[in-house]
Amino acid sequence: MKKLTLVTILTVGALSLMAAPDGKALSAKCAGCHGADYGKKALGVSKIVKDMKEDEIVKALKGYKAGTFGGPMKGVMKGQVANYDDAQIEAVAKYIKSLK
Ligand code: HEC
Repeated sequence: MKKLTLVTILTVGALSLMAAPDGKALSAKCAGCHGADYGKKALGVSKIVKDMKEDEIVKALKGYKAGTFGGPMKGVMKGQVANYDDAQIEAVAKYIKSLK
């Protein structure tokens, strides 16, 4: 009986770790610069992110994080995504493309 409880706890724990990251929550802080629908040029310089393809957004965000992508203001974006892992970046891109 004890063993079964432990297995249950471990299984539930593993499932919650595997749960997809919440793209909406992860992108809440982006709206101030990019607009809630990503239709604004952030700080007057970025592309209109909602017009980008999902894989372009993923590439850009991973690149900002790695320091291998961006324009003159890439430092702003590096700070935004520095703590996001690949799965979280992909979830954000998916969320952006789900907006209409
Ligand atoms: C403080 C304002 C600010 C916030 C907050 C912000 N961004 Fe940005 N974002 C910018 C700026 C400025 C650029 C252009 C940087 C450059 O020079 O490459 C940019 C660029 C981008 C690009 C690439 C577009 C291009 O021009 O190539 C994407 C994608 C993006 N941001 C997504 C996000 C996401 C997702 C978040 C939230 C996790 C976020 N941004 C938060 C200001 C911001």
